[in-house]
Amino acid sequence: MTAINLETIRETLKSIPYPGYTRDIVSFGLVRDIHVSADGKVEVLLEIATRQEHIPAEIQARVETALSNLPGVSAVDVRISVAPAPQTPQGKTQGDGGGIPPPTPLDGVKHIIAVASGKGGVGKSTFVANLACAIRQQLAARSEGASASVAIMDCDIFGPSIPIMMGARGRPQVSEDKIHPLQSHGIKIMSMGFLVDEDTAVIWRGPMVMKAIQQFSQQVEWGEVDVMLIDLPPGTGDAQISLTQTLPLDGALIVTTPQAVSVQVVRRGADLFEKVHVPILGVAENMSFLENPQTGERQYLFGKDGGVRVADALGVPLLGQIPIEETLRIGGDQGIPQVISNPNSCSANEFRMIASKILDSLEK
Ligand SMILES: Nc1ncnc2c1ncn2[C@@H]1O[C@H](COP(=O)(O)OP(=O)(O)OP(=O)(O)O)[C@@H](O)[C@H]1O
Ligand SMILES: [Mg+2]
Repeated sequence: MTAINLETIRETLKSIPYPGYTRDIVSFGLVRDIHVSADGKVEVLLEIATRQEHIPAEIQARVETALSNLPGVSAVDVRISVAPAPQTPQGKTQGDGGGIPPPTPLDGVKHIIAVASGKGGVGKSTFVANLACAIRQQLAARSEGASASVAIMDCDIFGPSIPIMMGARGRPQVSEDKIHPLQSHGIKIMSMGFLVDEDTAVIWRGPMVMKAIQQFSQQVEWGEVDVMLIDLPPGTGDAQISLTQTLPLDGALIVTTPQAVSVQVVRRGADLFEKVHVPILGVAENMSFLENPQTGERQYLFGKDGGVRVADALGVPLLGQIPIEETLRIGGDQGIPQVISNPNSCSANEFRMIASKILDSLEK
């Protein structure tokens, strides 16, 4: 009988995807130990952090089937330890990330800023895509052409729109248990949209979201990054709370519209950051007005001053007011941020100004 070696087993395990993911269980870091005896008996120890009972069983079945089909394997023993969900300092369940440590610096990443909103659809992703490009331009200008590195971590697991808005397509490469971000318009991008089929994401629960975010920070080969922006899902769920504790954030930005916004909703979002001592850097008002290109006359379709009110209530500056522009929407749909496609537009100007203010406050 041909002897089976560890390498073959490891390679085989690398071909087994985590249920619901395209990524394999080895690159997810689930394989803790492999042991092979001379008589071809293989023992595999896996550690999985999940609350979904079917996941360990499904992985166990997949591993048993794959390994027992290998020549030279006489028996397969798969043992799975399921890690308990840790508690956050607030006493809230932190998801099933499996022993999420307190925020640790991301190697090579200088600054991390989360972009949040009280409610959905206010243009948060549009803001993130354009701001990332504007920050990169500003950084390059400030460093007299020295290369600037900006990244987007799209943590909106349920509706990742960054891949489309940034025109980033394809599957990230995985090597040596590290996953390499895609790059578009010079921005490093990681999104669940690259890894999961659209119909899989919608059945996800907080715990799995947590696990994904943890891996985005620990297993993605970000390399040197000056500023990383994080696109958060809307609202203030447990996933957001956990995220603020997983990632070492320098600050948070709040995006809002001028519409009779409930300051309370935004306040709740801000509280979330304050609890974990993440400073709110400022508020950006989006869809502030529609300008008539001929007359310059402004129409305030969604009302006026919502951004100012929110900023005042939070005691932070209003960083900018981004107008409604058709080309901004089209740029998002086509994957070319307005800052790049229409650098002379009013919104591009505003994005550059906001980028500049953010860089100033980071320098402080
Ligand atoms: N200033 C703007 N002018 C015109 N269209 C805009 C503007 N801001 C956003 N949009 C459009 O509004 C829609 C919603 O924007 P976006 O997806 O960025 O919002 P979001 O807050 O990220 O949403 P979600 O809560 O679903 O993540 C998109 O089609 C986008 O192109
Ligand atoms: Mg979004």
